[in-house]
This record gives sequence, structure tokens and C-alpha cells, in this order.
Amino acid sequence: MQESQTRKRTVRSFVRRAGRTTRSQQRALDVLWPVYGLDDDAGPLDFAALFGRTAPVVLEIGFGNGETLVEQAAGDPDRDFVGIEVHQAGVGHCLLKAEAAGVRNLRLIDRDAVEVLERRIRSGSLSRLNLYFPDPWPKKRHHKRRIVQDAFVDLIADRLTAGGALHIATDWANYAEHIDDVLSRSDRFRCAERRVHDGEAPLDRPQTRFERRGIGQGHRICDWRFERVANNE
Ligand SMILES: C[S@@+](CC[C@H](N)C(=O)[O-])C[C@H]1O[C@@H](n2cnc3c(N)ncnc32)[C@H](O)[C@@H]1O
Repeated sequence: MQESQTRKRTVRSFVRRAGRTTRSQQRALDVLWPVYGLDDDAGPLDFAALFGRTAPVVLEIGFGNGETLVEQAAGDPDRDFVGIEVHQAGVGHCLLKAEAAGVRNLRLIDRDAVEVLERRIRSGSLSRLNLYFPDPWPKKRHHKRRIVQDAFVDLIADRLTAGGALHIATDWANYAEHIDDVLSRSDRFRCAERRVHDGEAPLDRPQTRFERRGIGQGHRICDWRFERVANNE
């Protein structure tokens, strides 16, 4: 069982980019990671113990440079935020932003989000999950790398509380079709809102870095809010 799970996870939704880490990002990784970062693999996270209170928890997968995540955490002090990202320069940038904003309701994890969801996030423990501009993997032979797949949707449905929200945004028309297909197959989610725009109407979120890039390339943006339906519905 363990072995077959390991084999399955060799198809990942990211490639670790070497990318340059600036000196200030490296300083942030050295000095601020102990403040905001979670890197022990000691089993399921206890959010109440982690944040020292009981509050709704919002998880962002693939936060990139973290600007959107920090802005949301700073603007919503009554909720706690957890961000997952594997790109070290992005994590460093996010740490600098978090320090500048003085946010306390934020923790970061630098591991594959699928593994984190499987091993460290308890069933029904998230009030909202944000997936903004996931890597589109445009080539057909790479579509299997897209993070939005039936198994992933089942996994996040379990981790969200009933009535919780799943927010997704993409600037790739073909990925938008794929997301519509996969989510429409799930009886755990109901599409509460879907909007297509040119960057002027992000759905309950600040604009992101990749979104700005996509708009600059003439892409339209698709935003969804799915609601996690109760098990007995
Ligand atoms: C296209 S970028 C979008 C970044 C950001 N959300 C934005 O809109 O600017 C996708 C990000 O997701 C991260 N990512 C992809 N799969 C991931 C995974 N399984 N776990 C953690 N991060 C992941 C990548 O490293 C990348 O930084």
C-alpha cells in the first residue's frame, strides 16, 4: 500500500525550479522561516495549538511569491492562513512580505501540497481552500501533471468543512474546461459562482502575479467559487 502510494506520487504538479534566491530572500529563509515556517513532519497539524486560538483556517496551494496570501491574511485577522509553496525564492519573498505586514495569522509549508493534504491536514479542518493560477501544463502529454484531478478533488472535499469554499482561478482556457469537467463530476462540490473577466473582477481575492502576466499576454481570467456540500445532501 505504502509503495504503490509512493509510485503514484511520482507524477507531481510542479518541477522544482533552481531559480535564483536573492540575498534578502535567503536572509528571510534563514531568519524568518523559524517564525512562520512549519517543517517538521510530525503528523496531522493541530491548528488551534499552532495559532493559539480557534478560528476558521484558509489554505492556499502554490502561493508563488505570496503577495496575495499576505494581503489576504493582513486584511482578515479573524481567520488563520496556511500557505504551501515549493519554490524557495517565492517562499523567501513571502516571508519578507509577511514580516513587513507584521501578520501573525500566517504559517508556511514548503512541501508538495498533495502530500501535506494527505498527511498533515485533518478531515473537515479547512474553511476555505485557494488555488490561484495553478501550473497549466498546456501540452497534452503533461495534462496528467495538472493538480486538479478527480483524486485531488476527493481529497480536498474531505479536508474542507461542509459549507466550506474552494476558490480556483486560471488564465488558461483549456485548463478552465478541464476544471469545469473535473468539478462537475464531483458530487462533493456545487459551483456557487463562475465568472470570466479581463482582470477587473477577481472573485474575493487580490490580483496575483501570474494573473498580471496572463493578462499581459491577452489571456482572459476564469474564477470559480465552489461550495463543499454536506455529506447528506
Ligand atoms: C503558476 S504559479 C502561480 C503562483 C501564484 N498563485 C500566482 O497566481 O501568482 C503556480 C505555483 O504553484 C506551485 N505549485 C505547483 N504544484 C505545487 C504543489 N503540489 N505543492 C506546492 N506548490 C505547488 C509552483 O511552485 C508555482 O509557484
